[in-house]
Amino acid sequence: MLCKGLDERGVVFYTNYGSDKARALEANPRAAVTFPWIAIHRQVHVRGAVTRVSPAETAEYWALRPRGSQLGAWASDQSRPVADRRAMADRFAEVEARFEGADVPVPPEWGGYRIAPEVVEFWQGRENRVHNRVRLVAPDFVPFRLQP
Ligand SMILES: Cc1cc2nc3c(=O)[nH]c(=O)nc-3n(C[C@H](O)[C@H](O)[C@H](O)COP(=O)(O)O)c2cc1C
Repeated sequence: MLCKGLDERGVVFYTNYGSDKARALEANPRAAVTFPWIAIHRQVHVRGAVTRVSPAETAEYWALRPRGSQLGAWASDQSRPVADRRAMADRFAEVEARFEGADVPVPPEWGGYRIAPEVVEFWQGRENRVHNRVRLVAPDFVPFRLQP
C-alpha cells in the first residue's frame, strides 16, 4: 500500500471499500503498518484502530491523482475475479468513454482509511542481532526500550 497521509492523527492509505482488505477491516477495524528501510537496517512500525477518512478528505486526495489512475479505480472491482486481461482492458475502455471530456468523480466504493497510532515502534538493527527497539504507546507516547 502507498502511504498517502501521515500526521498526528495517523497513517492514511486509499483503496477500494469492497476489496478483501476493506472487508476484513470493516469486520475487525485494526491494522498494522511497517515501513522498512532494509539498506540501513531500520523500520518503523505503527498499529492501531482503523477508521474511514471523511468523503471530503478522500475527494481532496482523489483530485490529485493522475486521470489514468482515477479511471483505473473505476475500472477495477478490486479483489473480485475477472475472466482475463482483455476483460480488464474492455472495462478500462468503457470508463474512459463514459467520462470523456469530464472530470472523473470519486467512485462510490473508493476511499481512504486512517490507522490511528496506539503503538509506534522504532527498530534499528545492531550487531549480533542485539537490536534496538524503542516503543511509544498511546496516549502519552513516552518512549521505552524493549529487548530485541
Ligand atoms: C508498491 C505497491 C503499492 C500499492 N499501493 C496500493 C494502494 O495504495 N492501494 C491499494 O488498494 N492497493 C495498492 N497496492 C496493491 C495491493 O498490494 C493489493 O494487491 C490490493 O490492494 C488488493 O488487496 P486485497 O485483495 O487484499 O484487498 C499496491 C501494490 C504495490 C506493489
